[in-house]
Amino acid sequence: MINMIAAVAKNRAIGFENKLIYWLPNDLKRFKALTTGHTIVMGLNTYKSLPKGALPNRRNCVLTRSVKELPGCECFASWEEFAKSCKADEDVYIIGGASIYQQFIDKADRLCLTEIDDTPAAADTFFPDYSEGWHVVNREAHTKDERHDYEYAFVDYERTR
Ligand SMILES: NC(=O)c1ccc[n+]([C@@H]2O[C@H](COP(=O)([O-])OP(=O)(O)OC[C@H]3O[C@@H](n4cnc5c(N)ncnc54)[C@H](OP(=O)(O)O)[C@@H]3O)[C@@H](O)[C@H]2O)c1
Repeated sequence: MINMIAAVAKNRAIGFENKLIYWLPNDLKRFKALTTGHTIVMGLNTYKSLPKGALPNRRNCVLTRSVKELPGCECFASWEEFAKSCKADEDVYIIGGASIYQQFIDKADRLCLTEIDDTPAAADTFFPDYSEGWHVVNREAHTKDERHDYEYAFVDYERTR
């Protein structure tokens, strides 16, 4: 199964200057819970944005045409090359960034989004439009609290066939 996981603002903003826009501890917790033990695939910029490099206890795959080796990661020059390396029953989480979401959303079976009730003042990368062709299968809303400055919801979408 191919999943996409992202934290998106109301205008679908996901990043600014190669960093995440929001710091939401519960989103990071959910990201870890969903992806641990599985395969994550990311673009080179997203890899470079990770504070400690490859994420532990996951198969880290990086799409890049310019880099051949990265610590703790497998590098692939194309989606096709990556797909050939996967087992038939492998659970894959596409973790960004914008260029990877945009190119491969058509391959995803499920979107695991954290929808944040805010429009940021500055953003330079966006999640693709998912307003058509997807329906909500699960939604868990959260209010703001001392560790979360905005309301947010964990929303899972599947393809409408
Ligand atoms: N909010 C969220 O959930 C979330 C999640 C992840 C990332 N982000 C944000 O997204 C931003 C980064 O996104 P981005 O679009 O700039 O970068 P990106 O998608 O992470 O990486 C782009 C790079 O990936 C490689 N690449 C792209 N398509 C490829 C393909 N088809 N085959 C092989 N390699 C390919 C290229 O590297 P080469 O030049 O080496 O070929 C390209 O320069 C950051 O701000 C980050 O914080 C947000």
